[in-house]
Amino acid sequence: MVTLTRTSHIRPDDGFAPQARALLNEAYPEGAPHELEGYYSTHGFPTTTILLSEKRKLVGHLAIFERLIKIGTEGLRVGLIGEVAVAADCRGQGLARGLVHHAHEYLQERSIPFSLLFAYEPRVYSSSGYKLMQNQMRFLDRDGQWKSLVYRGSMYAELSGRPWPNEPIDLCGRAI
Ligand SMILES: CC(C)(COP(=O)(O)OP(=O)(O)OC[C@H]1O[C@@H](n2cnc3c(N)ncnc32)[C@H](O)[C@@H]1OP(=O)(O)O)[C@@H](O)C(=O)NCCC(=O)NCCS
Repeated sequence: MVTLTRTSHIRPDDGFAPQARALLNEAYPEGAPHELEGYYSTHGFPTTTILLSEKRKLVGHLAIFERLIKIGTEGLRVGLIGEVAVAADCRGQGLARGLVHHAHEYLQERSIPFSLLFAYEPRVYSSSGYKLMQNQMRFLDRDGQWKSLVYRGSMYAELSGRPWPNEPIDLCGRAI
């Protein structure tokens, strides 16, 4: 049976921290062996982290960042989803879909109308309601420069029935 846990972020002294590091290093080998620490130092701590475990083994991870962004001239709080990872031997069973589903429930409880993510592989998220964005997006790039472009792989999901606007977006920070 797969168990779901919500926590704020993974602290170095958490019992499951070594497993979380191993899971993220496996999923994101380009950031290994310090993927988790590198992720937190780039983006800060997430608002919430969702973890999946099976027989005491950590098998899934997803980070949610709540952020105030600008859509056109309107300031709006949205959810940014990042660092989605499922253990290699547990893939293809719908666990990532389940993680995203729970992230949406969490955001809906908080009346957040949109979830955004930046996908390596957009097909993973289409069945969870994500569509590719066409909006011009201003964001802080890895090189420290503010850029404005249609960000490849940027996706949105509508969580409250409010339609996603076709307006320029200011992420007011980095892509996650
Ligand atoms: C990507 C990843 C999170 C998918 O986890 P998973 O538990 O196997 O995914 P699920 O079984 O929930 O599948 C969800 C959907 O994604 C699709 N999918 C899964 N892996 C895919 C891939 N590599 N390429 C394209 N589609 C994929 C599934 O077919 C499924 O589609 P459906 O809902 O339309 O049937 C997992 O392979 C992983 O951790 N990869 C390494 C880290 C990574 O790349 N994360 C970010 C992805 S943008």
